Amino acid sequence: MTCGSCCTSKTDAFFATRTARRDARRYQRKGPTGTTKTLLEGLAQVNAGGATMLDIGGGVGALHHELLEGRFDRAVHVDAANAYLEVARLEAATRGHADRVEFRFGDVAECREEIPVTDLVTMDRVVCCYPDEILLLSVASSKARRWLALSYPRNRLLLRLGTGVVNLYERVFGNDFRVFIRPEEHIMAEVVRHGFVSRFERQSLFWQVSIFERTNPLLA
Ligand SMILES: C[S@@+](CC[C@H](N)C(=O)[O-])C[C@H]1O[C@@H](n2cnc3c(N)ncnc32)[C@H](O)[C@@H]1O
Repeated sequence: MTCGSCCTSKTDAFFATRTARRDARRYQRKGPTGTTKTLLEGLAQVNAGGATMLDIGGGVGALHHELLEGRFDRAVHVDAANAYLEVARLEAATRGHADRVEFRFGDVAECREEIPVTDLVTMDRVVCCYPDEILLLSVASSKARRWLALSYPRNRLLLRLGTGVVNLYERVFGNDFRVFIRPEEHIMAEVVRHGFVSRFERQSLFWQVSIFERTNPLLA
């Protein structure tokens, strides 16, 4: 299934085969690192027992590769980059998970009607790749029956400057992909509005990692 948008083509072009293969090799060599590792540490505390997950913008698929090892039952990986889906699919097959992961290409916001509700929704370093963070968070929240796990860049001057340089470079070379730094309060407020409370918070110099649990029943 494919549901493209202007966002999908920019993102698909930005995360090309070379990037995806390099990231896959790094994951195979080192395992989960950075925000992914921190999210997994936080998720070790949730009582998953056979639960399902939706990995939005899962990249090489590190989160579902790890969480399907005895914790979660099934995963859906939606990604706006074909190259990432390809390497994630290969790794899932190598691990014997191929029949437990459904891979879908597209912008999750565009595809939302076709995306199932799962117990956990993850978005590791995805909010910064999307022009409408409120829409993205709203879609992710509406698909999370129990937990929502996010990582995103902190709203710090150095990061805003770095992002400005990256975006200028992209503009000069005629690429439409942009990186966005969002105020942490906006992200938190949107998630809380959907009935979640924070259960795990970890900050590094540049990254915020948060795991939320739903307190109200999900009205499908
Ligand atoms: C910086 S990469 C992060 C990949 C992986 N989660 C990680 O932390 O290594 C951002 C990912 O989000 C995906 N993405 C961005 N916007 C998306 C959207 N609206 N729907 C689905 N995937 C999206 C990109 O295709 C890419 O795989």
